Amino acid sequence: MNSGASEDGGRKEYFGESNAPVTTVAPGANIQSSFRRVALSITSVLPNGDVLHAGVLNAIDARLIEQVKKKQVRIAVIGMGHVGLPTALGFASMGWTVLGVDSSESLVSMIQAGKVPFYEPGLDDLLKRQLGKNFLPVSDMDQAIREATILFLCVGTPQKENGQADLSQVEAAARSIAHNLNGYKLIVEKSTVPAITAQWICRTIRRFATNGRAKLDFDVASNPEFLQEGVALKNISRPERIVCGVESERARRIVEEMYRPVPARLLITGTSTAEIIKHAANSFLSMKISFINMVADLCDAIGADVSQVAEGIGADPRIGHGFLQAGIGFGGYCFPKDLRAFIYLAEEYGIDFSLLKQVEAINEKRTEMFIKKLRNALWVLHDKTIAVLGLAFKAGTDDTRESPGLRIVDALRKEGATLRLHDPKAIPLLKKVLVEEEGKLTYCDSPYAAAANAQALLVLTDWAEYRLLDWARLHELMELPLIVDGRNLLDPDTIREAGFEYISIGRPAR
Ligand code: UGA
Repeated sequence: MNSGASEDGGRKEYFGESNAPVTTVAPGANIQSSFRRVALSITSVLPNGDVLHAGVLNAIDARLIEQVKKKQVRIAVIGMGHVGLPTALGFASMGWTVLGVDSSESLVSMIQAGKVPFYEPGLDDLLKRQLGKNFLPVSDMDQAIREATILFLCVGTPQKENGQADLSQVEAAARSIAHNLNGYKLIVEKSTVPAITAQWICRTIRRFATNGRAKLDFDVASNPEFLQEGVALKNISRPERIVCGVESERARRIVEEMYRPVPARLLITGTSTAEIIKHAANSFLSMKISFINMVADLCDAIGADVSQVAEGIGADPRIGHGFLQAGIGFGGYCFPKDLRAFIYLAEEYGIDFSLLKQVEAINEKRTEMFIKKLRNALWVLHDKTIAVLGLAFKAGTDDTRESPGLRIVDALRKEGATLRLHDPKAIPLLKKVLVEEEGKLTYCDSPYAAAANAQALLVLTDWAEYRLLDWARLHELMELPLIVDGRNLLDPDTIREAGFEYISIGRPAR
């Protein structure tokens, strides 16, 4: 992300006016057609029955909008994790004064010391540039709420055993807001939450407010994040779209002003619609991955090439090339959890979304599919020395939450294999949960160290640097030259020419 105005291919990164369209979607409207440029004088009906007449604001609200335009109000971002910290720094670099707050004092101290608590490319530089200038990390939640007018909720929404989203952190934040309402607040939910959470936040604030109903002056908006770990800063500075669910003209005007400089389409909806857009997007992308994974299995059985199938179907713009990379399945903190929460939400409303249950079931079977491939090549896995390259759930992050690679590591440990693990970023964090075990599990500081005397080398994360390894050297180091590529990362010809037996997913052994 740039710190100042910059031009790239005719598009601006932050700063300066954007000509991107603002679109309001009334309930039942066709979303595709709604992406046309529409005039701001639009009138639309919100899900709660209110009618939005753009341009109709009382004098106090008009003054508030002027203050927002001039960035004279402060933003507080509650929750300094993978979503909150990049979001806070994104607004800080747009010129807003942003308070970053978290209930973990140690996390706040770390950020105050200029350290990013997780790996996200470019974030440490951005923190250095904004810390103490536009970005102020604080641990006093009450004070941050009182000092800010716009409050972004970026707290965690983990899942419960039954798949339901655990919204206790969202509820706790709503109660803190209720206790500190000292003037108008726009509460913007950014965490991924199930539909009608915004309505619950609203209700909770009304219920717990301690300063009397007369002074209750707030709006709740839903502005789901579409950040991908590893490219979060690009997603913030040049998003593909911005979705904002609002229930009042005032909230709508504020979010329009806030996002005016960002070169992206702003889609204005009701809050429940915005919440569903987020869950539906993640579920749809997961569905694409499970679909291509099943096609890969069919390709394996028939001797066809799934990469070419993906290329062929992706060329149809109705399908698109994205998220058609076959492999060991999807992981991370978002897809598995959001998929389950969406299934749970549908069930709560009596809707049988078995399509998504299949998406999940297919994903869960990818570990078994991969172990089977390895077993077909090596026969017995007990006491085999296996080099594992990549433990993060995908490239560009040190995050191993719900990592498909870790599921495979678990399965191999149960088989009694000896594991030599490498990952360019994930190991320091991973060491805290998966401890080294002499002769059984060893962390290695290079792919070459991991490959020493190994009888198989597995590629489980799509780190670009693994494409550029010295194959001749690896060949020499390994006892058996066998590579099983769970991400279809490597070029089959290069690897086979280097003398390896090479197995990948849905690509024929030529
Ligand atoms: C995902 C979404 O892509 C973001 O838009 C969303 O904002 C985010 O979740 C969230 O809800 O916070 P992220 O979890 O960072 O982002 O990761 P993705 O890049 O979407 O990858 C998810 C998993 O799918 C990874 O394990 C990846 O390796 C796998 N994947 C992805 C495939 O197996 N095949 C593909 O073609 C693409």
